[in-house]
Amino acid sequence: MRSVFAIAAAFAVGLQMMPTEVRAAENLNLICSADVVICELMKGMFEKETGIQVNMVRLSSGETYAKIRAEARNPKTDIWWAGTGDPHLQAASEGLTQEYKSPMLDQLQDWAKKQAESAGYKTVGVYAGALGWGYNTEIVKTKGLKEAKCWADLVDPSFKGEIQIANPNSSGTAYTALASLVQIMGEDKAFDYLKQLNANVSQYTKSGSAPVKAAARGETALGIVFMHDAVAQIAEGFPVKAVAPCEGTGYEIGSMSIIKGARNLDAAKKWYDWALTAEVQSHMKEAKSFQLPSNKSATVPPEAPKFEDIKLIDYDFKTYGDPAKRKELLDRWDKEIGASAN
Ligand code: G6P
Repeated sequence: MRSVFAIAAAFAVGLQMMPTEVRAAENLNLICSADVVICELMKGMFEKETGIQVNMVRLSSGETYAKIRAEARNPKTDIWWAGTGDPHLQAASEGLTQEYKSPMLDQLQDWAKKQAESAGYKTVGVYAGALGWGYNTEIVKTKGLKEAKCWADLVDPSFKGEIQIANPNSSGTAYTALASLVQIMGEDKAFDYLKQLNANVSQYTKSGSAPVKAAARGETALGIVFMHDAVAQIAEGFPVKAVAPCEGTGYEIGSMSIIKGARNLDAAKKWYDWALTAEVQSHMKEAKSFQLPSNKSATVPPEAPKFEDIKLIDYDFKTYGDPAKRKELLDRWDKEIGASAN
């Protein structure tokens, strides 16, 4: 026994003599709600620059919101990077995320700063992107389908079984679509529209960008997604066309939040400041991530769909980023659309 204690004591002394970096490698538990390619790129760059080990999981925006809600008493996540802004706002409003005023805030576009201000600095904008869709030009041609330019085109019976969109419970993209249609048409008309659309939808996917990946690979004709996700498929060489709906459309302010009770708060703040730099945001295009960056000095990729060219609605983030509104819309969606989904 004595020798065991002696070894333990020697080990403890040894530990004290070690430099801090060797003794306790810093960790960061990250949930990433953007595309997995950019998630991996960010993780790799951050680890290389800081030596902090990142435990990363990719989850859709709505899934992340549900997870951090469920873990509120015993948080396992430190930081939530990317994903649509609404669930970040909903989390902020429920006190699931914590205030942090990054020294980087002044370098950001107004829409990104506004996102932070409106949530008492419990979240911040990291990128923006407009909602639309992408279709496979070859399928459209061979099947003699219409080149869909407007929301109204998507409910044409010729598109039966040819459309995919994500489920708004799991996906921030699909929640943005739901909230956008409600803002464009009014709630009852939007649900009538979604019922008609349901007849053409072959699958409600878990993640937001999956529908256009399926379209690119010829598994469906059209996927309702953020336009930059359609552009990513074009950049991959697939026969896809990205469309901005003629009636107008909504957009996301992709956001980032530190989880309340984060165990690795210093590392989380490091990631936060780092992810808001122009340099890091300028790397996003390398992962074919073509959103508009929030740092004013970041390079805007030439492929990024420009807001000036798109008929954008004045998306009401306050209303649709509210937890009660989210619940109300999703309950109605589950009852009227989800329950009868294919
Ligand atoms: C894609 C887009 C992001 C968006 C995200 C939301 O990755 O490129 O701009 O924030 O989808 O993902 P979700 O699965 O929640 O719809």
